[in-house]
Amino acid sequence: MYPIFEIPVVGGPILMAAIATFHILPSHLATGAFWMTYFIERKAIQEDRPELLEFLKKFSLSILIFCFVTGSLTGVGIWFAATVISPRAISGLIHTYVWGWATEWVFFVIEIVAIYVYYYTFGKIAPKLHLRIGFIYAVAAWLSMVIITGILGFMMTPGKWLATGGFFDGFFNPTYWPQLCFRTAMMFAIAGTYAAVIAGAMKNGGRDTIRKISGRWGLGGLAAAGLFAFWYYHSLPTNAMENLQSIAYVEIMYKLAIVIAVVMAIYFFLLAIGQGRFVNVWVGSLMMVVLLAGVVGGESTREFVRRPYLIPGYMYSNQIIGHDFDARSISSEVERFNSKGLLASHPLVPTDLKAITEENYLKTGEILVKVECLACHTLEAGGRNSLADILDGIDAESAYYLLEDLERTYMPPFAGAGPERRAAANYLAVVAGGETGTADWVVAGE
Ligand code: HEC
Repeated sequence: MYPIFEIPVVGGPILMAAIATFHILPSHLATGAFWMTYFIERKAIQEDRPELLEFLKKFSLSILIFCFVTGSLTGVGIWFAATVISPRAISGLIHTYVWGWATEWVFFVIEIVAIYVYYYTFGKIAPKLHLRIGFIYAVAAWLSMVIITGILGFMMTPGKWLATGGFFDGFFNPTYWPQLCFRTAMMFAIAGTYAAVIAGAMKNGGRDTIRKISGRWGLGGLAAAGLFAFWYYHSLPTNAMENLQSIAYVEIMYKLAIVIAVVMAIYFFLLAIGQGRFVNVWVGSLMMVVLLAGVVGGESTREFVRRPYLIPGYMYSNQIIGHDFDARSISSEVERFNSKGLLASHPLVPTDLKAITEENYLKTGEILVKVECLACHTLEAGGRNSLADILDGIDAESAYYLLEDLERTYMPPFAGAGPERRAAANYLAVVAGGETGTADWVVAGE
């Protein structure tokens, strides 16, 4: 039932996270690579080293293919998945940032045109002009990051936007600068890792020079990213800090990211001092995979920062508006659901399910649980963060008391009026295989 898109066992958030995490590689690579390309091409011209140009030709073609195919597929995939999983959050985003996206797409188009022109004019136009085309690409790609970071950061830490609803108040949010700096630094580390793979695949192409450059850019990017991560961490709101400390899974992810950063730093160091002899395509690709695992760690941590919200201070992860938003004359749905009932207030609940009766109490209980819990839990045993496992064998009455006190730093409160909490509790008992309540108990509380 809209707006619920149910993905059994895996759950919506993991699908979303899998696509978005992979997207980080091609998107940041596409953004970082051409700064490196510019540097190498200038060196090639100044020192008259045509073999470096040979590398650049391969490198830019592989970027064109890898980044623009996988990046576009996963980029569109993010929009598609987010729209079905969290349509109301996407609506919230678009209502403030549609022109932000439009601006970003302008830079994106420049980027696409520039890379085609760059690749197909290799050796056909004056070297200086060719160099400039690469520079146009590098700047346009980075500017698209400058814009996206503001829009994405707004959903993590909306800052003054909550009071004003203003475009720039959300854009230059409390974590904007540390995040932009962090991503900028990481794009060099990712570009360095990838350049080493391409160099490893070549017989000449200034292979050893490129490996050293990759190592230096990688190490520099990673070291800077470490500093900026520290800054980012200290600009997080207290709720985010509590999340980071209270959920075991987040701690594992956080540590994974740190361990991998150390492994990558050693790798870059070896490349930088010219010890990269053994870096063939396979070793290089393996390090790309290691890097991706680090990104998984970092992104999982980042995602938990905003729990229990999609847009902190405004919309909960289950797309229920948790607080008044005066600037846009939107009022809290939690309050409305607590006084008038969720089923009755929800526009898409069929009319025969608006009130809980002895006939429909199972169905209505199911709707309530799906609307309020599926954003972060799955139902079936063995699934991710599964309610059947967590509540294993719970009876309806205990589940009823549990729902009364559900709110945590990472979980929204249960919202609902009258018999709704009992209907939800009853359905939870069904899911958990525990003793269910009678129709009388659910409808009349007896
Ligand atoms: C914003 C995401 C989110 C929503 C929505 C959510 N939960 Fe949770 N829930 C979590 C997380 C995260 C954990 C902790 C998992 C862990 O510790 O590994 C959790 C843990 C739990 C636990 C066990 C630990 C505890 O703190 O009591 C129960 C019970 C639970 N959830 C029930 C529910 C029910 C019932 C709903 C729907 C009414 C719900 N949750 C909605 C994120 C959420």
